[in-house]
Amino acid sequence: MIESGPTEIPVTLPTARPEGRPFDPPAELAALRARTPLTPMRFPDGHLGWLATGHAEVRAILADSRFSTRYEISHYALADTGPIPPALPGDMLGIDAPAHTRYRKLLAGSFTVRRMRQLTERIEQHTAHHLDAMESAGGPVDLVEAFANPIPALVICELLGVPDADRDAFRTRMAVANEMDLPMDERMAAFAEGQNYLRELVRATRAAPTDDLLGELAISDLTDDELAGVAALLLGAGLETTANMLALGTFALLTHPDQLAALRADPDIIDRAVEELLRYLTITPTGSRTALEDVQIGGRVVRAGQTVALSIQAANRDPARFEDPDTLDIRRSAVGHIGFGHGIHQCLGQQLARVELRVALPALLTRFPSLRLAIAPQDVPLRHDMDIYGVHRLPVTW
Ligand code: HEM
Repeated sequence: MIESGPTEIPVTLPTARPEGRPFDPPAELAALRARTPLTPMRFPDGHLGWLATGHAEVRAILADSRFSTRYEISHYALADTGPIPPALPGDMLGIDAPAHTRYRKLLAGSFTVRRMRQLTERIEQHTAHHLDAMESAGGPVDLVEAFANPIPALVICELLGVPDADRDAFRTRMAVANEMDLPMDERMAAFAEGQNYLRELVRATRAAPTDDLLGELAISDLTDDELAGVAALLLGAGLETTANMLALGTFALLTHPDQLAALRADPDIIDRAVEELLRYLTITPTGSRTALEDVQIGGRVVRAGQTVALSIQAANRDPARFEDPDTLDIRRSAVGHIGFGHGIHQCLGQQLARVELRVALPALLTRFPSLRLAIAPQDVPLRHDMDIYGVHRLPVTW
């Protein structure tokens, strides 16, 4: 058993991606992982915890109930923005079992593979509609604005029952809430405004039940605040994640012409291609958990109260788990990637995200056989400043 000794200098979380390689994790992560899967890390608030980079270790921690996801005991933040408040009602990502189980059980029934497949037709319709609009506008267009953002937004709003007219205002607030450079109180205020809107929506749904997801949950024993919190989590996740996968995934394909050609030649490999893009791009690069008791892992002892930053991006590029991990290979089986997390908090919306990606990406490539970037790849503005990675804009033409 090795423990961190005085000779080990704690690292800080590497966040800078290598120059000119927007899809690759920070280079230091590979060096750390090669040395040890768990390395002492100094958090911005001064806390001495750990950084996990090995696939097996990150996965094991995510599955281990001796590690908590509770925000208020975590030291994980990219800047010392002050104490992290506990999860608001309904935010199941920030609570442990058994409180978490209650939400998860209620929602699992609404997010089944079958139900998500039933949505395929609606997703196809939204996709075709946005492709038509792009075609008639003519290139160049910003793919983020014209395609990647609106499709998942329409789908999640429709699924929940958020009126179209309210979508943009809600989206702006959530973008502020997710901006890592802003002070925590400003982020929380934006989040609270979003919550107030949703609370009103919940009250309206309870008064006149609808046949969408919110209407379904309105007859459960969740309080108004809990239900508004659930809706906020689903909307936040539904608006930000798949949208970034669509835009960043397209950027990756356009800059890997061999992979693009392979997908065009054999559209049947789309399921594999989507899994590989999820692995290779890992748009939620880092998570964290805090030990509730002393735990031995990766040849280390994580002490009770220590936070472990989990590098999901390093884990998804671990050569011990994936052959030639830094190569985008859409024909490979990327099964076992943890791009949707793992354990009890594994992404609730993963089947929805998969259906959206499997429908929208091939439709885009089929509609525009000569799709290409309208600016140099190095000029594409990257979301270095956000929790969820991606591109701010993706000018394309055809
Ligand atoms: C949880 C990624 C799409 C809803 C997670 C986690 C990851 C993730 C990594 C686990 C976080 C952790 O354990 O700390 C992604 C990616 C997506 C995506 C990469 C798109 C490509 C969605 C969508 C929805 C959604 C579309 C909603 C409709 C959720 C929820 C949780 C979650 C509610 C928390 C589950 C729980 O705590 O039990 N997601 N997600 N996600 N995701 Fe997603």
